[in-house]
Amino acid sequence: MDRRCTPIVRKALSVVVPQFRLDARGGIHGLPHWTRVWFHGRQLAASLDLDPAVLAWFAFLHDSQRHSDGRDAQHGQRAADYAVKLRQQRLITELAPSDFERLCEAMRLHSDGHTEGDLAIMACWDSDRLDLSRVGIQPWPARLCTSPARQSATIEAAVRMGDGLPRLPRAGHSKEQDQRGLV
Ligand SMILES: [Fe+2]
Repeated sequence: MDRRCTPIVRKALSVVVPQFRLDARGGIHGLPHWTRVWFHGRQLAASLDLDPAVLAWFAFLHDSQRHSDGRDAQHGQRAADYAVKLRQQRLITELAPSDFERLCEAMRLHSDGHTEGDLAIMACWDSDRLDLSRVGIQPWPARLCTSPARQSATIEAAVRMGDGLPRLPRAGHSKEQDQRGLV
């Protein structure tokens, strides 16, 4: 399953990193974050019997069009527009039209705090939100979408992955406004 996604990761990195406007190596929305989102995404795909290809493209594209590490409310829409461009360039070839639409919808809405929707879209959102501990925010079960993501073992493992990472000054709380701005 993961082996089929390895070419996706390679392709995504080859186009996303050179055009990324922020700190790809050490920023809170850069490569380490994308990699952990993909880790969570493939775990959720296995638990929910979803195609991991959607989760893979989401992990490496959803923050690719950020102009800042702050709220940047339009970055999800820009990421979806970017995905359409990559699809037209025949780079995103693994997804059926319906799954490509799911990918775009997941990216458009990923920082709006929704908790209901298509299962693959919710898995994308959860894969991102499980990495909130990197900025000192505890993922909260009520703000996650799928049952495997809400399990305490999943959240605890995700938080352990975020331990030792640089923290923002306002670490240690889980206000919805912060969650929406930082995923
Ligand atoms: Fe993110």
